[in-house]
Amino acid sequence: MSWGLISEMGHVAIQTTDIEGSIRDATQLLGLRVTEQGVREAYLAAADVHHELVYVDSDENGIHALGLVARDGDALREIRRRVERENLQVLSERPASAGVQDGFSFVGPEGWVFEVYTGMQAHAGGPLSFGPDRYGHLNFHPQDVKGMMQFLVRVLDFRLSDVIGDDFAYFMRCNPDHHGIALIQGRGTFHHHAWQTQSIADLGKLGDRLNRVGRELIWGPVRHGAGHNIAAYYVEASGAVVELYTDLEQIYDDSRPPVRWGAEENWWNMWGSYRPEEFRSFGIPPASRR
Ligand SMILES: [Fe+2]
Repeated sequence: MSWGLISEMGHVAIQTTDIEGSIRDATQLLGLRVTEQGVREAYLAAADVHHELVYVDSDENGIHALGLVARDGDALREIRRRVERENLQVLSERPASAGVQDGFSFVGPEGWVFEVYTGMQAHAGGPLSFGPDRYGHLNFHPQDVKGMMQFLVRVLDFRLSDVIGDDFAYFMRCNPDHHGIALIQGRGTFHHHAWQTQSIADLGKLGDRLNRVGRELIWGPVRHGAGHNIAAYYVEASGAVVELYTDLEQIYDDSRPPVRWGAEENWWNMWGSYRPEEFRSFGIPPASRR
C-alpha cells in the first residue's frame, strides 16, 4: 500500500451571498460548529480541526477554493514543482486560509482554485451532538471530465476507483476512502460536498431537521453502486448541494483495478433505478471574484 502526495481531503471554501443562512444551514441542519469567525469569513468543522468548510461573504455564490492536505512538507514541495511544470497560475505562495501552517494555492483546469497545505491546527470539538464525523469528499462536473481526471492523477497523485461509461464519470481517491473527488461530465459546476456519519439513522434525522423548517431532501437515502455509500442530499443556502453519507467502500489494496460501469448500468442506486431528473441541475460555478 503506497499513498500519494495528498493524504486527505481538506476543506471546501464557498463564496455565499447569504453568509448567515449558510452558517445556519451548516450548524443547525448538518451539525457543524463554527471554529473561527472573521469579518468576511467563517470557518467550520465537524472533526477536531480548524476547518473543513469555509464561507466567504460575497455578492455571488461560487466555489472560492478546494482544499487538499499534502502528506508532508516534501509532498507539498513536489506538488509545487508539478504546478510549476504545468504552467498553472499560482495565486499565493502562502496558505490562503487561517489555521494552516504552510501551503500555496493555484488555479487548476477550468478555473477551479486548489489550496494545498500541511499543518492544520487542531480544534477540539464540544460535547457530541448530531453532527457528522468529518468532511469526506466533493463532487463536481467539469466540462472536460477526462482532462480533469488526468490532471488529478498527474499533479495530485489521485487514483481511479470507479469509472462510468466512456468518459462520463470518474471516482478518485487519495487514501482508503473510495472517493475523495468524484467527477461527472457536466457544465463546469460544483455539485456537492459530502460528510461522513456512522449510521443510516443519522440520514433520517437529517430529513427530520429539514422537515421541521419546511425544507426537504432532494434525493435519498440511496445506496450508490459506485462507492457503495448510503447517501442523502439537500441544497444549502449558497446553492451547493450537501451530502450526508455512511458505509462508504474502503480500499486497502492499492492495486485494486478500477471498477468499470456501463453508462446505462445502474451505478447510482442499488435499491432502485429512479433518479430525480433535476438532481444534477443543482450546484454552483467556480467564483469569478476573489
Ligand atoms: Fe458524493
